Amino acid sequence: MKVLFVCLGNICRSPAAEGVFRGMSDVETDSAGTSDWHAGEPPYRPMQVAAKGRGYDISDLRSRLFTSADFGRFDLIIGMDASNIANMERLRPAGNETPIRLFTDYAPERGVDEVPDPYYTRDFDGVLDLIEDCARGLKAAI
Ligand code: 4NP
Repeated sequence: MKVLFVCLGNICRSPAAEGVFRGMSDVETDSAGTSDWHAGEPPYRPMQVAAKGRGYDISDLRSRLFTSADFGRFDLIIGMDASNIANMERLRPAGNETPIRLFTDYAPERGVDEVPDPYYTRDFDGVLDLIEDCARGLKAAI
């Protein structure tokens, strides 16, 4: 089983999701962004600090661009919001059926339909709370 977490910049939400989930599962994980704006960069510093505060060291992760080849490399692809999913669907190869899900689908009790982007909201701890709930639900589902 291989799971890919995807957001826009791959420096805030998806590396945090990867960092939280890889600590609780044997599943192989990776993350990517639908933009290459931060390709090669480590996670955004305030997100690294907030994650480290909860015991998740994500300093080893590096941003990379999501590509159509990722559809063939992963069993499950998880987007942080609807625009991430729309951006990925545009790149889906003909005939490919790899499932793409919203991360928040795994925490229905939260009643939200996206992981808000802390790059804009600045609420790094609030988003980590949500990511931890979604990661627990994902672990239970796979
Ligand atoms: P992410 O957040 O998609 O959670 O990594 C963002 C980080 C940077 C930018 C946008 C979103 N940016 O515009 O540079």
